[in-house]
Amino acid sequence: MKYLILQNPGHNRVYYNLADQLALAELQIAAEKMQSEVSTVEVELIEGVRYLSLETTELLTDSDLEIVSRLSFVFAIFQQEEDSNCLKPIRKNEYEFVDQKISSLLKYHGKTNELFTKMMVNVGLLASDFNHNETITLLDPVAGKGTTLYEALVYGFDAYGIEMETGAVHEAATFFKKYLETEKFKHNADERRIAGTNKNNEIQIRDFEFAKTKEAFKSGEGIKRIGMITGNAAEAYTYFKKPKFNLIVGDLPYGIYHGNKSFESRSGATRNPSELLEECLPQWMKVLKKGGTIVLAWNSFVVSPKKLSEIFESNGFSVLKEGPYTKFQHMVDKSIKRDIIVAKKV
Ligand SMILES: C[S@@+](CC[C@H](N)C(=O)[O-])C[C@H]1O[C@@H](n2cnc3c(N)ncnc32)[C@H](O)[C@@H]1O
Repeated sequence: MKYLILQNPGHNRVYYNLADQLALAELQIAAEKMQSEVSTVEVELIEGVRYLSLETTELLTDSDLEIVSRLSFVFAIFQQEEDSNCLKPIRKNEYEFVDQKISSLLKYHGKTNELFTKMMVNVGLLASDFNHNETITLLDPVAGKGTTLYEALVYGFDAYGIEMETGAVHEAATFFKKYLETEKFKHNADERRIAGTNKNNEIQIRDFEFAKTKEAFKSGEGIKRIGMITGNAAEAYTYFKKPKFNLIVGDLPYGIYHGNKSFESRSGATRNPSELLEECLPQWMKVLKKGGTIVLAWNSFVVSPKKLSEIFESNGFSVLKEGPYTKFQHMVDKSIKRDIIVAKKV
Protein backbone atom coordinates (compact mmCIF):
# COMPACT_ATOMS: atom_id res chain seq x y z
CA MET A 1 0.00 0.00 0.00
CA LYS A 2 1.20 3.47 -0.68
CA TYR A 3 0.13 6.54 1.28
CA LEU A 4 0.90 10.13 0.32
CA ILE A 5 0.81 12.90 2.87
CA LEU A 6 0.47 16.59 2.06
CA GLN A 7 2.37 18.88 4.40
CA ASN A 8 0.72 21.67 6.35
CA PRO A 9 1.49 24.88 4.36
CA GLY A 10 2.61 26.54 7.63
CA HIS A 11 5.47 24.06 7.85
CA ASN A 12 7.52 25.89 5.21
CA ARG A 13 7.31 29.11 7.21
CA VAL A 14 8.77 27.40 10.27
CA TYR A 15 11.60 25.48 8.62
CA TYR A 16 12.09 27.20 5.23
CA ASN A 17 13.93 24.85 2.87
CA LEU A 18 14.22 22.09 5.48
CA ALA A 19 10.47 21.50 5.95
CA ASP A 20 10.59 18.21 4.05
CA GLN A 21 13.66 16.97 5.95
CA LEU A 22 12.04 17.58 9.35
CA ALA A 23 8.75 16.03 8.26
CA LEU A 24 10.60 13.00 6.92
CA ALA A 25 12.46 12.56 10.20
CA GLU A 26 9.23 12.71 12.22
CA LEU A 27 7.56 10.22 9.86
CA GLN A 28 10.53 7.83 10.04
CA ILE A 29 10.43 7.88 13.84
CA ALA A 30 6.67 7.24 13.69
CA ALA A 31 7.17 4.34 11.24
CA GLU A 32 9.31 2.54 13.85
CA LYS A 33 6.35 2.53 16.23
CA MET A 34 3.70 1.36 13.75
CA GLN A 35 2.12 -2.10 13.74
CA SER A 36 2.20 -2.26 9.92
CA GLU A 37 5.48 -3.11 8.32
CA VAL A 38 6.77 0.03 6.62
CA SER A 39 9.09 -0.54 3.65
CA THR A 40 9.75 3.00 2.40
CA VAL A 41 9.44 6.50 3.79
CA GLU A 42 10.50 9.28 1.43
CA VAL A 43 9.79 12.65 -0.11
CA GLU A 44 8.10 12.49 -3.50
CA LEU A 45 7.13 15.09 -6.11
CA ILE A 46 3.94 14.47 -8.09
CA GLU A 47 3.11 17.00 -10.80
CA GLY A 48 5.27 19.54 -9.00
CA VAL A 49 3.63 19.04 -5.57
CA ARG A 50 5.65 17.66 -2.67
CA TYR A 51 4.29 14.73 -0.63
CA LEU A 52 5.72 12.49 2.05
CA SER A 53 5.20 8.92 0.99
CA LEU A 54 4.84 5.83 3.12
CA GLU A 55 4.79 2.32 1.70
CA THR A 56 3.46 -0.51 3.82
CA THR A 57 2.90 -4.21 3.27
CA GLU A 58 -0.74 -4.04 4.39
CA LEU A 59 -3.40 -1.39 5.00
CA LEU A 60 -2.59 0.90 7.90
CA THR A 61 -4.32 -0.25 11.08
CA ASP A 62 -6.56 2.18 12.99
CA SER A 63 -3.83 2.68 15.54
CA ASP A 64 -1.26 3.42 12.79
CA LEU A 65 -3.64 5.91 11.21
CA GLU A 66 -3.96 7.59 14.61
CA ILE A 67 -0.16 7.87 14.78
CA VAL A 68 0.11 9.36 11.27
CA SER A 69 -2.83 11.74 11.81
CA ARG A 70 -1.14 13.26 14.85
CA LEU A 71 2.17 14.09 13.17
CA SER A 72 2.88 17.81 13.26
CA PHE A 73 3.20 18.33 9.50
CA VAL A 74 0.19 16.32 8.31
CA PHE A 75 -2.37 18.33 6.37
CA ALA A 76 -4.08 15.60 4.29
CA ILE A 77 -3.57 11.87 3.80
CA PHE A 78 -4.20 9.97 0.57
CA GLN A 79 -3.90 6.39 -0.51
CA GLN A 80 -2.41 6.07 -3.99
CA GLU A 81 -4.05 3.57 -6.26
CA GLU A 82 -1.65 1.05 -7.71
CA ASP A 83 0.17 2.09 -10.91
CA SER A 84 -1.70 5.38 -11.19
CA ASN A 85 -1.60 8.91 -9.88
CA CYS A 86 -5.15 8.60 -8.54
CA LEU A 87 -5.29 9.60 -4.89
CA LYS A 88 -8.04 8.50 -2.55
CA PRO A 89 -8.50 10.85 0.42
CA ILE A 90 -8.21 9.12 3.80
CA ARG A 91 -10.00 10.69 6.73
CA LYS A 92 -7.57 11.67 9.46
CA ASN A 93 -8.17 9.97 12.78
CA GLU A 94 -7.33 12.84 15.06
CA TYR A 95 -8.17 12.84 18.70
CA GLU A 96 -8.35 16.34 20.16
CA PHE A 97 -9.28 16.73 23.80
CA VAL A 98 -9.36 20.49 23.22
CA ASP A 99 -9.28 22.33 19.91
CA GLN A 100 -5.83 22.69 18.39
CA LYS A 101 -6.27 26.47 18.25
CA ILE A 102 -5.63 26.75 22.01
CA SER A 103 -1.89 27.01 21.48
CA SER A 104 -2.20 29.78 18.86
CA LEU A 105 -4.43 32.09 20.92
CA LEU A 106 -1.72 33.72 23.05
CA LYS A 107 0.76 35.65 20.91
CA TYR A 108 4.01 37.01 22.36
CA HIS A 109 7.64 37.57 21.58
CA GLY A 110 9.72 34.52 22.52
CA LYS A 111 6.93 32.01 21.97
CA THR A 112 7.97 28.62 20.61
CA ASN A 113 6.24 27.80 17.35
CA GLU A 114 3.22 25.52 17.90
CA LEU A 115 3.98 23.11 15.05
CA PHE A 116 7.55 22.73 16.24
CA THR A 117 6.33 22.15 19.80
CA LYS A 118 3.84 19.53 18.61
CA MET A 119 6.66 17.80 16.74
CA MET A 120 8.78 17.64 19.92
CA VAL A 121 5.87 16.18 21.91
CA ASN A 122 5.27 13.59 19.16
CA VAL A 123 8.92 12.60 18.91
CA GLY A 124 9.12 12.28 22.69
CA LEU A 125 6.12 9.97 22.87
CA LEU A 126 7.15 7.92 19.82
CA ALA A 127 10.65 7.40 21.21
CA SER A 128 9.35 6.45 24.65
CA ASP A 129 7.98 3.12 25.86
CA PHE A 130 4.51 4.71 26.12
CA ASN A 131 1.80 5.42 23.59
CA HIS A 132 -1.04 7.82 23.12
CA ASN A 133 -3.82 5.71 24.57
CA GLU A 134 -2.14 5.51 27.97
CA THR A 135 -2.45 8.18 30.64
CA ILE A 136 0.45 10.50 29.90
CA THR A 137 1.85 13.20 32.15
CA LEU A 138 4.25 15.73 30.66
CA LEU A 139 6.59 18.28 32.23
CA ASP A 140 7.97 21.37 30.52
CA PRO A 141 10.64 22.59 32.95
CA VAL A 142 11.27 25.82 30.97
CA ALA A 143 7.62 26.47 30.17
CA GLY A 144 7.46 30.19 29.27
CA LYS A 145 3.77 30.95 28.77
CA GLY A 146 2.84 27.33 28.22
CA THR A 147 2.87 26.37 24.52
CA THR A 148 4.01 22.82 25.36
CA LEU A 149 1.33 22.46 28.04
CA TYR A 150 -1.41 23.42 25.58
CA GLU A 151 -0.07 21.06 22.91
CA ALA A 152 -0.05 18.28 25.52
CA LEU A 153 -3.61 19.13 26.46
CA VAL A 154 -4.76 18.83 22.83
CA TYR A 155 -3.70 15.18 23.16
CA GLY A 156 -5.48 14.85 26.50
CA PHE A 157 -2.29 14.59 28.57
CA ASP A 158 -1.90 16.06 32.04
CA ALA A 159 0.81 18.70 31.89
CA TYR A 160 2.95 20.68 34.31
CA GLY A 161 5.26 23.61 33.65
CA ILE A 162 8.07 25.23 35.63
CA GLU A 163 8.98 28.78 34.70
CA MET A 164 11.19 31.18 36.64
CA GLU A 165 9.53 34.38 35.39
CA THR A 166 6.61 35.25 37.65
CA GLY A 167 5.00 37.44 34.96
CA ALA A 168 4.99 34.65 32.40
CA VAL A 169 3.33 32.20 34.81
CA HIS A 170 0.78 34.79 35.82
CA GLU A 171 -0.09 35.55 32.21
CA ALA A 172 -0.32 31.86 31.29
CA ALA A 173 -2.52 31.04 34.29
CA THR A 174 -4.81 34.01 33.62
CA PHE A 175 -5.14 32.98 29.98
CA PHE A 176 -5.85 29.37 30.85
CA LYS A 177 -8.48 30.18 33.47
CA LYS A 178 -10.25 32.42 30.97
CA TYR A 179 -10.06 29.63 28.39
CA LEU A 180 -11.71 27.13 30.75
CA GLU A 181 -14.46 29.65 31.53
CA THR A 182 -15.08 30.60 27.89
CA GLU A 183 -15.17 26.97 26.76
CA LYS A 184 -17.45 26.13 29.71
CA PHE A 185 -15.27 23.43 31.23
CA LYS A 186 -16.24 22.33 34.71
CA HIS A 187 -13.10 23.27 36.66
CA ASN A 188 -11.31 24.01 39.90
CA ALA A 189 -8.49 26.56 40.00
CA ASP A 190 -6.17 26.61 42.97
CA GLU A 191 -2.98 28.38 44.00
CA ARG A 192 -0.91 26.73 46.70
CA ARG A 193 2.56 26.24 48.10
CA ILE A 194 4.41 23.29 46.57
CA ALA A 195 7.78 23.85 48.26
CA GLY A 196 9.47 26.10 50.81
CA THR A 197 8.65 26.71 54.42
CA ASN A 198 7.84 30.41 54.67
CA LYS A 199 6.87 33.50 52.65
CA ASN A 200 10.49 34.19 51.65
CA ASN A 201 11.32 30.81 50.13
CA GLU A 202 7.91 29.45 49.16
CA ILE A 203 7.25 28.14 45.64
CA GLN A 204 3.72 28.43 44.29
CA ILE A 205 1.83 26.23 41.87
CA ARG A 206 -1.22 27.38 39.91
CA ASP A 207 -3.24 24.20 39.61
CA PHE A 208 -6.20 23.50 37.34
CA GLU A 209 -8.43 20.44 37.39
CA PHE A 210 -11.08 20.31 34.71
CA ALA A 211 -13.41 18.16 32.67
CA LYS A 212 -15.71 18.71 29.73
CA THR A 213 -18.90 17.97 31.66
CA LYS A 214 -20.16 18.06 35.22
CA GLU A 215 -20.61 14.28 35.10
CA ALA A 216 -17.04 13.66 33.95
CA PHE A 217 -15.75 15.99 36.64
CA LYS A 218 -17.82 14.25 39.29
CA SER A 219 -16.80 10.75 38.26
CA GLY A 220 -13.12 11.78 38.32
CA GLU A 221 -12.35 9.71 35.24
CA GLY A 222 -12.64 12.57 32.77
CA ILE A 223 -10.52 14.98 34.81
CA LYS A 224 -7.39 16.53 33.30
CA ARG A 225 -4.77 18.54 35.14
CA ILE A 226 -2.56 21.48 34.25
CA GLY A 227 -0.13 22.93 36.79
CA MET A 228 2.14 25.95 36.44
CA ILE A 229 4.95 26.49 38.93
CA THR A 230 6.86 29.71 39.41
CA GLY A 231 10.19 28.14 40.19
CA ASN A 232 13.51 26.74 39.11
CA ALA A 233 13.79 23.80 36.68
CA ALA A 234 16.76 22.55 38.69
CA GLU A 235 14.43 21.92 41.66
CA ALA A 236 11.94 19.70 39.77
CA TYR A 237 12.34 16.79 42.20
CA THR A 238 11.82 19.07 45.20
CA TYR A 239 8.46 20.04 43.69
CA PHE A 240 7.22 16.63 42.47
CA LYS A 241 9.07 14.17 44.77
CA LYS A 242 8.54 11.10 42.55
CA PRO A 243 8.94 9.78 38.97
CA LYS A 244 5.69 11.35 37.83
CA PHE A 245 6.37 12.11 34.17
CA ASN A 246 6.30 10.04 30.98
CA LEU A 247 7.73 12.95 29.01
CA ILE A 248 9.84 16.03 29.60
CA VAL A 249 9.66 18.46 26.68
CA GLY A 250 10.96 22.00 26.49
CA ASP A 251 12.54 24.76 24.46
CA LEU A 252 15.67 25.83 26.34
CA PRO A 253 16.50 29.53 26.68
CA TYR A 254 18.45 30.80 23.68
CA GLY A 255 20.35 33.45 25.58
CA ILE A 256 19.05 36.18 23.33
CA TYR A 257 15.66 37.36 24.45
CA HIS A 258 14.68 34.90 27.16
CA GLY A 259 17.51 35.23 29.65
CA ASN A 260 16.48 36.46 33.05
CA LYS A 261 18.91 38.63 34.96
CA SER A 262 17.15 38.38 38.29
CA PHE A 263 17.33 34.60 38.13
CA GLU A 264 20.97 34.63 37.12
CA SER A 265 21.93 36.84 40.00
CA ARG A 266 19.81 34.76 42.38
CA SER A 267 21.27 31.40 41.53
CA GLY A 268 24.46 32.10 39.62
CA ALA A 269 23.09 30.06 36.72
CA THR A 270 23.93 31.16 33.21
CA ARG A 271 21.91 30.93 30.03
CA ASN A 272 24.28 28.44 28.52
CA PRO A 273 22.27 25.25 27.94
CA SER A 274 25.12 22.99 29.02
CA GLU A 275 25.39 24.64 32.42
CA LEU A 276 21.63 24.69 32.85
CA LEU A 277 21.48 20.97 32.01
CA GLU A 278 24.38 20.00 34.28
CA GLU A 279 22.37 21.57 37.05
CA CYS A 280 18.94 20.16 36.09
CA LEU A 281 19.47 16.63 34.72
CA PRO A 282 20.04 14.88 38.07
CA GLN A 283 16.60 16.09 39.23
CA TRP A 284 14.93 15.49 35.86
CA MET A 285 16.18 11.90 35.94
CA LYS A 286 14.38 11.45 39.26
CA VAL A 287 11.04 12.86 38.09
CA LEU A 288 11.00 10.89 34.80
CA LYS A 289 9.45 7.41 34.65
CA LYS A 290 11.51 4.51 33.34
CA GLY A 291 10.98 4.26 29.57
CA GLY A 292 10.22 7.99 29.46
CA THR A 293 12.01 10.50 27.26
CA ILE A 294 13.33 14.04 27.37
CA VAL A 295 13.12 16.18 24.23
CA LEU A 296 14.76 19.59 24.32
CA ALA A 297 15.33 22.23 21.69
CA TRP A 298 18.45 24.34 21.97
CA ASN A 299 20.74 26.59 19.96
CA SER A 300 23.48 24.39 18.52
CA PHE A 301 25.63 27.48 17.78
CA VAL A 302 26.13 27.74 21.56
CA VAL A 303 26.69 24.03 22.37
CA SER A 304 27.39 21.23 19.90
CA PRO A 305 25.11 18.16 19.74
CA LYS A 306 28.10 16.02 20.74
CA LYS A 307 28.76 18.03 23.90
CA LEU A 308 25.07 18.00 24.83
CA SER A 309 24.87 14.22 24.32
CA GLU A 310 27.88 13.76 26.60
CA ILE A 311 26.15 15.72 29.36
CA PHE A 312 23.03 13.55 29.07
CA GLU A 313 25.07 10.36 28.99
CA SER A 314 27.13 11.33 32.00
CA ASN A 315 23.82 11.77 33.83
CA GLY A 316 22.72 8.22 32.97
CA PHE A 317 20.48 8.90 29.95
CA SER A 318 20.60 7.02 26.67
CA VAL A 319 20.72 9.54 23.79
CA LEU A 320 19.02 8.71 20.49
CA LYS A 321 21.55 9.96 17.98
CA GLU A 322 21.18 7.79 14.90
CA GLY A 323 19.21 8.16 11.65
CA PRO A 324 16.20 10.49 11.82
CA TYR A 325 17.23 11.79 15.24
CA THR A 326 20.14 13.62 13.58
CA LYS A 327 17.93 15.45 11.05
CA PHE A 328 16.23 18.12 13.11
CA GLN A 329 18.81 20.92 12.89
CA HIS A 330 17.52 24.07 11.15
CA MET A 331 18.18 27.82 11.10
CA VAL A 332 15.72 30.03 12.98
CA ASP A 333 17.62 33.27 12.36
CA LYS A 334 21.24 34.39 11.93
CA SER A 335 22.10 33.65 15.55
CA ILE A 336 20.03 30.52 16.22
CA LYS A 337 20.59 27.13 14.66
CA ARG A 338 17.94 25.13 16.45
CA ASP A 339 18.28 21.41 17.08
CA ILE A 340 16.57 18.89 19.32
CA ILE A 341 18.06 16.23 21.55
CA VAL A 342 16.08 13.10 22.45
CA ALA A 343 17.21 11.11 25.47
CA LYS A 344 15.64 8.17 27.24
CA LYS A 345 15.63 6.80 30.78
CA VAL A 346 16.24 3.09 30.21
C1 LIG B 1 12.62 29.50 24.96
S1 LIG B 1 11.69 29.95 26.34
C2 LIG B 1 10.35 28.84 26.33
C3 LIG B 1 9.17 29.40 25.63
C4 LIG B 1 7.94 28.50 25.74
N1 LIG B 1 8.13 27.24 25.05
C5 LIG B 1 6.73 29.23 25.19
O1 LIG B 1 6.32 28.96 24.03
O2 LIG B 1 6.19 30.09 25.89
C6 LIG B 1 12.67 29.38 27.70
C7 LIG B 1 12.12 29.76 29.06
O3 LIG B 1 12.92 29.15 30.06
C8 LIG B 1 12.85 29.96 31.22
N2 LIG B 1 13.95 29.50 32.11
C9 LIG B 1 15.29 29.63 31.93
N3 LIG B 1 15.98 29.04 32.92
C10 LIG B 1 15.03 28.49 33.76
C11 LIG B 1 15.11 27.75 34.96
N4 LIG B 1 16.27 27.42 35.52
N5 LIG B 1 13.95 27.34 35.54
C12 LIG B 1 12.74 27.65 34.98
N6 LIG B 1 12.62 28.36 33.84
C13 LIG B 1 13.74 28.78 33.24
C14 LIG B 1 12.98 31.35 30.66
O4 LIG B 1 12.49 32.33 31.56
C15 LIG B 1 12.13 31.26 29.39
O5 LIG B 1 10.81 31.67 29.63
